[in-house]
Amino acid sequence: MKQVFEPATIGSMTMKNRIFRAATGDAHAINGHYAPEDFAWYETMADSGVGAIISGLANVCDYPMRDEPGMLGIYDDSFLEEYQKLADMIHQKDSRLIVQLVHCGSNTYVTGRTIYAPSAVTNPMSGAEPVELSVEDIGRIREAFVRAALLAKKAGCDGVELHGAHGYLLHEFLSPYYNKRTDEYGGNIENRSRLLSEICTEIRAATDLDFPILVKINCNDAVPGITKEDFLETGRILEKAGASAIEVSGSWKSNKSWQPYFLAETKELAEALNIPVILTGGVRDLPELEKIIAETQIAFAGMCRPFIVEPKLLERWESGNLGRSWCRSCNACMTTKLICPYR
Ligand SMILES: Cc1cc2nc3c(=O)[nH]c(=O)nc-3n(C[C@H](O)[C@H](O)[C@H](O)COP(=O)(O)O)c2cc1C
Repeated sequence: MKQVFEPATIGSMTMKNRIFRAATGDAHAINGHYAPEDFAWYETMADSGVGAIISGLANVCDYPMRDEPGMLGIYDDSFLEEYQKLADMIHQKDSRLIVQLVHCGSNTYVTGRTIYAPSAVTNPMSGAEPVELSVEDIGRIREAFVRAALLAKKAGCDGVELHGAHGYLLHEFLSPYYNKRTDEYGGNIENRSRLLSEICTEIRAATDLDFPILVKINCNDAVPGITKEDFLETGRILEKAGASAIEVSGSWKSNKSWQPYFLAETKELAEALNIPVILTGGVRDLPELEKIIAETQIAFAGMCRPFIVEPKLLERWESGNLGRSWCRSCNACMTTKLICPYR
């Protein structure tokens, strides 16, 4: 029977327990590079007892694809040293580092440059009016993801996560709302998954058979977009393409409860795949999580806001004080840049 606090592996990465600090972007970066306060926060997280830390979303492209100024980047050798430093620090504390790779697509508030997306569909959140990517530009973006993964590997990071959720470019390709293409990147779910699966295949070919490639995908959407069938099929396609694990997320509209709100969908995906599946969103209670890990095929859990509210949550749980996380999923941390009223 699986347990939360036992070592577990994803490809070449062995974690001391099954808990990830889910990706948490904090918009402090300076020209894509980590700010000193980010390092301090990663140190706090590495000390917290998590098995692995997924970085905040890091852009794989420089101008003209770059996004907001405070966003992390990983697109050339100038990033190697800081990722090396970060990975070394995290390893010394017996945790692991996964770098989350993203291209923002039309999910951006940046102005003064061309915004690219699968199709020229106005983004209902940001209002951005993107230009449809040519197949050549799609190829350049694919290369940028592979280059970023190789930089992360070279720096000694334990793996990468492709951000295929939350309305960013790879998710926009998956979504029939944003993707109106009539070529091999649009139409059925196989075509809409093509860019993600090509990126997986190419990273796998350029690295090792067991280099951890995680992918975060939505199981549902805020706008009429991917269906549950699309979600399950994307998981199957990604497994065939060489993904090492899938983290399940979804629309922020599902985010009302402080129980695991994607549990049913995550469970179903875990039953459909042979690779590990990660439950994220609303995980707040250790006994409940232990039951999920013991009784289902779900192999790992991710938590984001609980660690903003209480960075030493795992220490408390491991000491036998099992009270729930205080985080109420209120999203104040999103709107006020990590300042939580419960802190
Ligand atoms: C402040 C903040 C920043 C986030 N940044 C990212 C990010 O960079 N990448 C990502 O995939 N998800 C990001 N998320 C979403 C979380 O990784 C997670 O999917 C979501 O918060 C649900 O988990 P939770 O209920 O444990 O918070 C962020 C969430 C918050 C609150």
